[in-house]
Amino acid sequence: MIRSTVIGSGAYLPDRVVTNKDLEAIVDTSDQWIRERTGIERRHIAADHQKTSDLAILAASRALDDAGLMGSDIDAIILATATPDETFPATAVKVQAAIGMQGGFAFDLQAVCTGFIYAITTADMYIKSGMVKRVMVIGAETFSRILDWEDRTTCVLFGDGAGAVILEAAEGDGTTDDRGILNSCLYSDGTKHHLLQTDGGASSTQTVGHVRMLGREVFRHAVVNLADAFAEVLNGVNLSPDDIDLVVPHQANKRILDATVKKFGIPKEKVVVTVQEHANTSAASVPLALNHALKEGRIAKGDLIILEGMGGGFTWGASLIRW
Ligand code: UT7
Repeated sequence: MIRSTVIGSGAYLPDRVVTNKDLEAIVDTSDQWIRERTGIERRHIAADHQKTSDLAILAASRALDDAGLMGSDIDAIILATATPDETFPATAVKVQAAIGMQGGFAFDLQAVCTGFIYAITTADMYIKSGMVKRVMVIGAETFSRILDWEDRTTCVLFGDGAGAVILEAAEGDGTTDDRGILNSCLYSDGTKHHLLQTDGGASSTQTVGHVRMLGREVFRHAVVNLADAFAEVLNGVNLSPDDIDLVVPHQANKRILDATVKKFGIPKEKVVVTVQEHANTSAASVPLALNHALKEGRIAKGDLIILEGMGGGFTWGASLIRW
């Protein structure tokens, strides 16, 4: 059986750091409120000249270095973003050109904060079908560009960044001892789209709009949906929460992470938390957290890892990986 294994990881956070204290000068908020309600301490904001593609290219290049590969070794790029450089063409094709990938194909995928989970699952399907051998999967965002910097209920929550992984086809036995992606689940519920959306877009206002969110409602659904996804990917292959070595969740709010894993009795030491460093970077947050865990030496060969995400749409999902 073909399995998709992770053979490289890269991340990039812009140099400019904006602390909670800095935001106190912009909106009616406080460092204490932001820390207590979200766990966020600071966020990184792209320089004026940096676009989503620039962040994505840096993360992708670092993933190539990590894997010891060149752009020409990659068959496809799937870039998850809600903040593309332009309405079209896809930001992914700029990455394709920049890393020197001459053949293959590249496209963007839009599932907001669940984008990376959707992208890695989509890449897994292409690999399992035999169509491609190596896929660059990227989550990259410049959410700072679509924030209303006068709206304290949203502008304190988000940041910019990019993360990437390279997936490669490998032969497995079809058991949960195989290395690679073992199971995934994806969901969306369009009846909730108004709870987290932009108030503009190409075909509605001819602008990109700003982020609008009914935070309390989103919070409530996030805990339930993430817990469901978590259970489903494990149950689907007859594994239990005790088998998990590390949880790499979407980094939106530390209280959501705590509440989700508490349901399954997973100790906090097994959960990667990076939200304090970069706030919610939407599709970039899972690969950023994954890269952080790798750099800290928290992932060993054979470990069982869950990636999970939830965001606008609503969209949510999870991916179970044997490292
Ligand atoms: O990545 C996609 C998924 N997104 C999420 O997962 C976000 C989910 N939601 C959340 O993380 C939380 O709901 C928030 C962090 C957005 C808000 O936390 P909360 O505990 O749900 O607060 P709340 O919305 O119930 O607001 C409590 C109070 C309100 O004041 P009143 O009505 O009680 O007087 C808000 O106006 O906090 C006020 N508030 C603020 N105060 C200081 C809202 N934003 C701020 C702020 N600074 N930045």
